This record gives sequence, structure tokens and C-alpha cells, in this order.
Amino acid sequence: MDAIINEYKKHGVDAFYRIHGHDYENPHIDIVENLLKSAKEEWNINGDILDLCCGSGEVSHALEDCNVDGIDPYTKELYEANTGNDCIRMTFKDIVEEGIGKRYDFVVCSYAMHLCERSMLPMLLYRICEVTGNLIVITPHKKPDCNGDFFREISRIKKERSTMVLYENRIFNV
Ligand SMILES: C[S@@+](CC[C@H](N)C(=O)[O-])C[C@H]1O[C@@H](n2cnc3c(N)ncnc32)[C@H](O)[C@@H]1O
Repeated sequence: MDAIINEYKKHGVDAFYRIHGHDYENPHIDIVENLLKSAKEEWNINGDILDLCCGSGEVSHALEDCNVDGIDPYTKELYEANTGNDCIRMTFKDIVEEGIGKRYDFVVCSYAMHLCERSMLPMLLYRICEVTGNLIVITPHKKPDCNGDFFREISRIKKERSTMVLYENRIFNV
């Protein structure tokens, strides 16, 4: 497969995952696992976790001692087969329109938040801050910056070229 960025350009992001939702694998899985190992040690991740844009279960595997649910519009069957956890089919737009509807100790979004259209990001962050005090974003880019009205960065860990940022909710005591 071409570098994923070329595939996104060729098909569009949603069409790419509609085609590859059953065989998606993150080639940087080792980095994701390594970052989350550090997060467990340094940020005391436990309790109820939402794996947002859960793919084939990369984050959920690394946090398998927690109680994890997944959300992803395209990888439900693959995720559920790999993890045994439930996956709710929702796009970013669905979340903006309907909300998440369950409280979590942490929401973790790995390699995916940058796929949300910039104009929709504030409303997505609002919906996330309705249900959690703690948002963790893992990204291979500088984007997205989730600091703003709803979340503020409190810590970050970098490994190789990926960054994991912990944000705290600024408005609700969830
Ligand atoms: C690069 S993968 C990341 C998967 C996993 N979190 C990981 O770390 O490997 C991006 C994920 O975003 C999901 N996705 C794509 N478009 C989306 C959208 N419009 N709304 C919500 N999720 C979307 C895909 O189905 C895919 O599982």
C-alpha cells in the first residue's frame, strides 16, 4: 500500500476507511503501545476508557486491564473480533450531532483526531468534554491542537516522531 497520506489523497479519508475498515493495521503500533505504557505509568490511566476512532484495537490492547469501549464508523467488526469489546459506529459528525452519552475516565484518540475537519473540531471537543475530564491525543503531526475553550494541555510525551498529549477539561467537572 502507498504511504497512507497518498491513499487519503487518492480516495478521500472516509472512502479509504470504507474500503480498508476490515484490514486496517497501524504500522506504528509499537510507538502507540510504548506511548501508552508511559501514559499508564505517568498519568495513572485506569477505569472506564473510550477508544475514539478505535481502528483494529491498537489503543484497547495497550489498555486491556481497563474497561474499554470503542467508537469507529468503519472498523466495528474488525475491532470487536480483535478485542472482544463493543464498538459503536459513529463518525465525528454523528458525535457532534448526537453526543457520546456515557461518562469515561479517559477518552483516548490515536492517529485519528487530525482527520476531523477543522471547522468541526471545536464542536467535537465540546462533545468530548461533556463526558470526560481527561482527553489523550496521540498524533504523528503537530495537529490537532486541542487547547481552547474546552480543554487545556497539561502534559506531553514524545517518542520517535509521535506525540501524546494529555488535556484536562476546562469547563465541566465530569
Ligand atoms: C489512522 S486510523 C487510527 C486507528 C487507531 N486509533 C490507531 O491508533 O491505529 C484512523 C481511524 O479513524 C477512523 N475514521 C475515519 N474517518 C472517520 C470519521 N469521519 N469519523 C470518525 N472516525 C473516522 C477510521 O475508521 C480509522 O479507524
